[in-house]
Amino acid sequence: MNPLNHVAIIMDGNGRWGLKYKNSRNAGHKAGLNTVERIIKETIKNNIKFLTLFAFSTENWRRPKKEINYLFNLLENFLLDKIDDLNKKNIKLKILGSKKFSPKLNKLLINSEKKTNKNNKLQINLALNYGSKSELISAFKKIKIKKNIINEKNIDRNLQTKNIPNPDLLIRTGNTKRLSNFLLWQLAYSEIFFEKKLWPAFTTKDYNKIIKEFKSIKRNFGKI
Ligand code: FPP
Repeated sequence: MNPLNHVAIIMDGNGRWGLKYKNSRNAGHKAGLNTVERIIKETIKNNIKFLTLFAFSTENWRRPKKEINYLFNLLENFLLDKIDDLNKKNIKLKILGSKKFSPKLNKLLINSEKKTNKNNKLQINLALNYGSKSELISAFKKIKIKKNIINEKNIDRNLQTKNIPNPDLLIRTGNTKRLSNFLLWQLAYSEIFFEKKLWPAFTTKDYNKIIKEFKSIKRNFGKI
């Protein structure tokens, strides 16, 4: 059985779900947050140590301002409301991506990271204003400044995911089969599951089904 240490998720389909059932994309984001909470709990139950969630890409700034503001408000309220609880549950929060939000949200993100920094039951990496290509470019620039050679180890060390093992499993909900500039380097050998259901409709049963199937796959890493 494959060990499962790190699950990464592209939580796609909030907008479509919201429009279909509540006539509002934002209602889909709200429902998507409930799925986030359920999946966090199930990740702990499965004794998985890292969960990386793609919450906002560098390309998502192209959305209407009203939707962007709604999403960041949702995140702000979630953190204000839940960070003590996450801390009590021994969960560490790390933000991937550049913190270029309102001063209030930036501060909240930094404080949430600091508060939970020593926790070790589960690490949640929240990708916010994250894009894999710009992460790679920054890594190459850092290597160049340090006059180091470009090799796999140095690239790993200069990515925002340094000290985080590569995802074993990537799940993308929402019936779309693409990577959307997410962890392009780190996903090189991950098992990828594309799920038809929209993120708000994704259940712990669906999650456990994928985990079970993942565990039975023969992972070769290039060998036979
Ligand atoms: C993609 O669905 C989802 C997002 C861009 C936002 C993800 C946010 C959440 C799951 C809720 C908030 C989470 C936190 C941590 C506060 P989409 O809007 O692209 O869906 P669509 O493809 O149907 O339009």
